[in-house]
Order: sequence, then structure tokens, then C-alpha cells
Amino acid sequence: MKLIEYPDAEMMMMLLAQIIAADLEAALRVQDRVTLAVPGGTTPAPLFAGLSSVSLPWNRVRVLLTDERWVPESSDRSNTALLRQHLLVNHAAEAELLPLYSEGADTPEEALEQLEAAITPALPLNVCLLGMGADMHTASLFPGADLLDEALTGQGVLYPMRAPGAPEPRVTLSAHVLNQAIDRHIVIKGADKREALERALHASPQEAPVAAILPNTKVHWAAN
Ligand code: 6PG
Repeated sequence: MKLIEYPDAEMMMMLLAQIIAADLEAALRVQDRVTLAVPGGTTPAPLFAGLSSVSLPWNRVRVLLTDERWVPESSDRSNTALLRQHLLVNHAAEAELLPLYSEGADTPEEALEQLEAAITPALPLNVCLLGMGADMHTASLFPGADLLDEALTGQGVLYPMRAPGAPEPRVTLSAHVLNQAIDRHIVIKGADKREALERALHASPQEAPVAAILPNTKVHWAAN
């Protein structure tokens, strides 16, 4: 793990958008089509805005979420809606979205096979950006989640996930898929998440799921 500290979150979002754009450019030089995974949640919207206005051959970029809450796009909890609003705009409107949600399915289990089938040909991820919660979850790999062990150690692509810390069912990329990404970044802000990161460095992935993907990951942090 490499920790990169920034003077403030605004600067971090701007610079990290440039770093991710450079990672994508490097991948696009050697591959016809590349895949970018990004988190939902409250942190990344300003970064998405910066990234969306970078001029890249976005029509060769596939974008997917690291995890999704099982809610329709009309919900303000939908990470897909966040992506459409903040990332898949400007130049990045040309990118292809690989869905992690299916409107017709009441539960993640009903749609899992179909979603996996669309994602698998786009793997391995070229660039993966993740968030982290103060409880040391990343993607939807939550401490205490029902299928945490499977998602940490299994070879599957997607896992449904229900957890005490999550109000609705989730679907998440597995640790295996996240760890295969060529470039991996975590973006966090605030003192509580910095402390959580320090704790995760000495904890097991069962207690601190983010620990499973920290090796070879760059963590970008700003206090506020
Ligand atoms: C989600 C995310 C999740 C997120 C962390 C951090 O759907 O919630 O993808 O893994 O990155 O919970 O969330 P915040 O940025 O809101 O603190």
C-alpha cells in the first residue's frame, strides 16, 4: 500500500482525476478496449466531474461500478444514477456502462448470472477506483456480511451481499476481480477514515475487508 496525502479534498479530486485519466490513456495505448471500475457513495462525485471532462477515446472505455445497492435508478441511493449524472457526461458520455443492477429483478440473485455474463468479457479491470467506509468496508465487502468469506476468497465475479451496515441488499465485485486490476486506487477523506485505514493495516480481511485489496493499492487521502 502506498499512501498519498493531499492538502485538501478539492485538490485531491482534481489530481486523482488526472492520475486515473493517465492510467486509462496508458491502457488505451496497448489495448483496444479498456475497463474502469468506480465506487458509488458520497465521496467521488467531484472526481467524476473532473474525469468526465478529460478528452480520451471514451468510446473504447467500459465503465462499471465496484458495487451497487439493489434499488431502482429513481432512488437517491442508486450508484448507477450517480454515475449517469456525474461521470457519464461531457466527453465520458461516450463510454459504455456495464450495469450492476437490473430493473426487472427483485433481488440480486435473480439477475446475477446475466450481469456476470456481461461483465466477464470486460475483465480484468484496467483501472479500479474504490471508496472505503469508516467500518473498513470497501465496495460492498462489509464486515459481518452474509457472503463475505465467499466474496473474499471465491473465484466468482459478482456476489450478492447483505450486511448489518447496509440498509438494502447489495451486489459487489469480488476481491479476486478487484485484485486483478492493473491500477488500483482508494479515495478517502476525513480523520475517521485515516484511522480506519491504519486499523485495517493490522487487521484480518474478515474484520477489515479493505485489507484484502490493500497490497499494491495507492490510497489517496485528504483531511477535508
Ligand atoms: C457504496 C460504495 C461504497 C463506498 C463506501 C464509502 O455503494 O456505498 O460503493 O463502497 O465507496 O461506503 O462511501 P462514502 O464515500 O459515502 O463515505
